[in-house]
Parts: sequence; structure tokens; C-alpha cells
Amino acid sequence: MKSCPCVFNFVFCCGLIFSIVCWFSGISGAYAQEASSFHAAPVQLSENTCLIAPHENSVVVVSRLWLILKGDVPEEVLHNGKPVKWDKHFAEGTYVGILRLDLGMQNLKIGEREFQFVLGRNEKDHAGPEEWQVYRLHNMKPGPNPCMRCHESEKQEDGKAKIGALMKPAEACFKCHIMEKIDVQHSNTKLSGDWKEKCSDCHFIHASPHKYLLRQQRETYLKDPSIEEAPEK
Ligand code: HEC
Ligand code: HEC
Ligand code: HEC
Repeated sequence: MKSCPCVFNFVFCCGLIFSIVCWFSGISGAYAQEASSFHAAPVQLSENTCLIAPHENSVVVVSRLWLILKGDVPEEVLHNGKPVKWDKHFAEGTYVGILRLDLGMQNLKIGEREFQFVLGRNEKDHAGPEEWQVYRLHNMKPGPNPCMRCHESEKQEDGKAKIGALMKPAEACFKCHIMEKIDVQHSNTKLSGDWKEKCSDCHFIHASPHKYLLRQQRETYLKDPSIEEAPEK
């Protein structure tokens, strides 16, 4: 049976991030995990299927959204009762479908699992429960294979793209982000020596309820949490 690496990712990342964060700041576990109705990490739907995006009980503010599944895809995947059309550019193992959303509640059924999220006008004005958090994601320009900007990607003989692991930050993030600017933007962040190789320790690009796509609340990472904004926005 194929195993889904998200189990590893999720447990490993959460454990690791959590201990790093706690270790750096000496904060209690309760604070680090506070007020998060969804986690900035892939969701294990079943033994062989992970949901990367979107997340349940969240508020989205974009009307076109990628549904991304990894592993085995259940036969029935429904968005508001209609079958999701998978993008044929992708090889088996990664399933990407664009969801076109109208304002209001959205229902997703992935095999046995069924959940909701909501498209709102903005973070505050939406039809979901008040405590739902906004679902943030990295800006992703559309294109036949938008994933290859950050992931290893191999074109198979049949022309389909096999999406692999995340590339190193030097090959992914720093294609677009400017080193000097990144330095300044992290001047109030508690950093380890090799932090520039580990953007994903603190950020989750696909789904985060926290500002700057952070895995935990921004304050947990800062030297001085009273400083409102990262410099040089
Ligand atoms: C802007 C960069 C970026 C883009 C574009 C991007 N990803 Fe990711 N992706 C990431 C990062 C960062 C992670 C977190 C990896 C980790 O935690 O180690 C991730 C994780 C994942 C994971 C779960 C981890 C794994 O490999 O098992 C999957 C699946 C995934 N991405 C699929 C996609 C697909 C499909 C696309 C295109 C539709 C895409 N990604 C586009 C940055 C990106
Ligand atoms: C294809 C170009 C591109 C790549 C590759 C890319 N980014 Fe970005 N990123 C952008 C743009 C454009 C923005 C939005 C403008 C800005 O905030 O600078 C952005 C914004 C961000 C933000 C701020 C988001 C927010 O809500 O404030 C973070 C964090 C981030 N990127 C991290 C990463 C990481 C980590 C990687 C590597 C895994 C990465 N980016 C790869 C172009 C890119
Ligand atoms: C130790 C945790 C940590 C690591 C590692 C890390 N970041 Fe960040 N990042 C943060 C925090 C915290 C903020 C918000 C800083 C603030 O508000 O002062 C941030 C903010 C950002 C922003 C948004 C800045 C803005 O003002 O819009 C970008 C872009 C970004 N990080 C990219 C990256 C990239 C690329 C890497 C890897 C090279 C990386 N980060 C590694 C914690 C981290």
C-alpha cells in the first residue's frame, strides 16, 4: 500500500515547529496553539489521502481556489454537489482542481469526509460562524504548471507533470524574493543560523490562518512582539 508522506510531514513539522518555537521563546504550549480552528499544515483525510488546500471551517476571500489533494483520490469528490474536474496536466498522485466560488457557504465532499468553508466579501463580512478564521495562501499566478515554481516537477512520457518535493529556498523562494529585503523583514524575528534554508519551519504557503502565512501566531516568533509590523513592507 502506498503511504502518504503527509503523516510524516504533519507530525514531524508540528512537533518540530512547536518545540523550536517553545524552545526559543519559553512560552507554554497553550499559547503557541491558541485560537486556531485550522492548522497551517496538510490535513490527513484518510490513510492514503492528504488535503493540502483548502481547509475546513475557514473563510476564503478569493473566488477561484485550488483544491489540492495528494495520494489516492476518492472516486467521489464533490463541490456543492457537483463533481470536481481534475486538471489533466498532473500525473497520478497529485490532484488539482480549480474551484469557482460564489459568495456564501461552500460544501466539499471528499470520499467519506464532508466539510464546509465560506467565501466572504472580506475577512469580517461573511456568512460563516464568527470564529472561523481567514484562509490565507501564497499568491500563485495561474499557468499550466504553477507548482513548479516551488516544487520539483518532472514531465512524464505522457506529458503529465509529476509534482515532487519542495525545492530548496535558494531555488524556490529566492527566485522571487530578494535576499536583502528578506533580511530586513526578519529583523524582529528570532532566527537560527540556518534559517534561510528553512522557510517552511515557520511559514506554510498553502494554508494559514495567521498573518504572513505563519504556522503559528506571528507574536510567537518575534524578539519584540510589541512591534506591530515587519519593517519595509
Ligand atoms: C510559492 C511556493 C509554492 C507553490 C507555487 C506551490 N507549493 Fe506546494 N508547498 C510549498 C511549501 C512551502 C510546502 C510545505 C512543504 C513542507 O512542509 O515541507 C508545500 C507543500 C505541498 C504539499 C504537501 C507536502 C508534500 O509534498 O507531501 C503538496 C502535495 C503540494 N505542496 C502540492 C502543490 C501543488 C499541486 C501545487 C500547484 C498547484 C503547489 N504545491 C504549488 C510551496 C509551494
Ligand atoms: C513566483 C515568485 C515567488 C516564489 C517562487 C515565492 N514567492 Fe513568496 N511571494 C511572492 C509575491 C509576488 C508575494 C506578494 C508580495 C509580497 O508580499 O512581497 C509573496 C509573498 C510571500 C509572503 C508574504 C505573504 C503574506 O500574506 O504576507 C511569504 C511569507 C512568502 N511569500 C514566502 C515564500 C516562501 C517561503 C517561498 C518559497 C517556498 C516563496 N514565497 C516563493 C512571490 C513568490
Ligand atoms: C524562524 C521563523 C521564520 C523563518 C525560518 C522564516 N520566516 Fe519569514 N517571517 C517570519 C515572521 C515572524 C514574519 C513576520 C515578521 C514581522 O512581522 O516582524 C515573517 C515574514 C515574512 C515575509 C513577509 C514580510 C512582509 O512584511 O510582508 C516574507 C515574504 C517571508 N517571511 C519570507 C520568508 C522566506 C523566503 C524565508 C526563508 C528564506 C523565511 N521567511 C523564513 C518567520 C520566519
